[in-house]
Amino acid sequence: MSKLLSCSKKMGNRKGLLLITLFLNFFGFSSPKLDVSQFPSSFLFGTATSSYQIEGAYLEDNKSLSNWDVFTHLQGKIEDGSNGDIACDHYHMYKEDIELMHSLGVNAYRFSISWSRVLPRGRFGGINPSGIQFYNKLINELLMRGIQPFVTLSHYDVPQELEDQYGAWLNAEIQEDFGYFAEVCFEAYGDRVKYWATFNEPNEVAKFGYEWGMYPPALHSQPYVAAHNIIISHAVALHIYRTKYQDKQRGLIGIVLAMAWYEPLKETAEDYSSAQSIIDFDIGWFLDPLIYGDYPNEMRRRLGPKLPKFSAKDKEKLQHGLDFIGINHYTSLYVRSCGISHCIAVEKDGIPIGKKTPMPYYYVVPEGMEKIVTYISKTYNNTPIFITENGLSQKSDDSSSVEELLNDTDRIEYLDSYLTFLTRAIRKGADVRGYFVWSLIDNFEWIHGYTMRFGLYHVDYKTKKRTPKLSAKWFKDFLNAPRLQGREDEKSKLI
Ligand SMILES: *[C@@H]1O[C@H](CO)[C@@H](O)[C@H](O)[C@H]1NC(C)=O
Ligand SMILES: *[C@@H]1O[C@H](CO)[C@@H](O)[C@H](O)[C@H]1NC(C)=O
Repeated sequence: MSKLLSCSKKMGNRKGLLLITLFLNFFGFSSPKLDVSQFPSSFLFGTATSSYQIEGAYLEDNKSLSNWDVFTHLQGKIEDGSNGDIACDHYHMYKEDIELMHSLGVNAYRFSISWSRVLPRGRFGGINPSGIQFYNKLINELLMRGIQPFVTLSHYDVPQELEDQYGAWLNAEIQEDFGYFAEVCFEAYGDRVKYWATFNEPNEVAKFGYEWGMYPPALHSQPYVAAHNIIISHAVALHIYRTKYQDKQRGLIGIVLAMAWYEPLKETAEDYSSAQSIIDFDIGWFLDPLIYGDYPNEMRRRLGPKLPKFSAKDKEKLQHGLDFIGINHYTSLYVRSCGISHCIAVEKDGIPIGKKTPMPYYYVVPEGMEKIVTYISKTYNNTPIFITENGLSQKSDDSSSVEELLNDTDRIEYLDSYLTFLTRAIRKGADVRGYFVWSLIDNFEWIHGYTMRFGLYHVDYKTKKRTPKLSAKWFKDFLNAPRLQGREDEKSKLI
């Protein structure tokens, strides 16, 4: 096989490579080499970021403090003691960042709107014209470059005022606040924004903020109440979009969840049911109510009265379904049953599930991409899917050299292999509409501060200079390769 491949390289033409690839496929030897032609021509390829992680300007132009502004300023919360006060200074450098995207050749950009920039006091104060204006400038500049804005309304940050006034996600009042925020955004930007995600990773917000205490408000109680209010807040925003805006604005609205793939450790009934249980608790937790109207039975059975109930009125709001499901996928983990609970493992017989990465519990397992996408597609009626995040971190401290960080061959390998397994899910019938690399530029990685770098572009945090890594060049070459026209016809002719 390697002989054939090196021979194809010497032939140095596409047709030769295609012939050999087809030969190998025909005999079931390998997946075809990754090629942009394997994706539909309408497919969105983009990069992703979020407001708190890149914008900075944390008190500029009448923005108020968000829960993350307050949290990062508490001692000992962030690994390197840093915060997002300045971050990548994207607020002032957005034009340059759009230029980077334009040079990559992406046709979409996923970003989030800072709630406290647009509505500094939530619904208790006015709309901030400077906040509205910033995203107008961003959106217009993107469209001028042929880049579709893909907007997340809530990517972790909430105005601190809502936390102080009533406890944010723990209080049903937030449903009204979120609905108001969503409507302000639909009204201001919906004429140009055709992709809306209500929430980013609410499953992590609820777990990390209200169970494990690593994210604000750093509590160890009531994750199910927080999640319940998020689900209904989502439904309220969806109801507003469906009934007042969608007809004339013609966009799509969905939600984005963090989705690891959970692999049973052993081929036993116990481990399979444990893996399913964890999937129900992590993903079904949000998608079952939004698509089927209620929590998974498994959650009801295990949690009993700790799991809130949807009232008849809530259920009415949950009737609107989802236009798409956003999947943030990075890793797979093993699951085994242990007593009445389930345990996560990262090794089987001493062998790790994949190559370890600098992020705790993140391993390189490209097959997981095919598995999670296929599972979501089959479980949720083939709802359209966007891969809203996928990427690899680099550990960075004072000892890392910039040259090393720029030569990110492992990131190229990661993206290539995950995209290859994505094409397999698409060939099996999943309706996948887009893929976003996390992230455009290195940025503030939450509790890890600036010690984890996910960017296609390196950021020097002192000078704010952006420098393309090798992966940026790879992504650009991938996106700009000529599409193989009539590939399918050619295949049947050749065989
Ligand atoms: C900030 O708010 C004040 C008071 O409403 C207003 O006078 C000022 O123009 C605002 N500044 C900006 C940059 O929006
Ligand atoms: C980049 O890294 C690869 C392997 O990771 C190495 O073979 C290559 O020499 C490096 N290139 C540079 C310019 O450092």
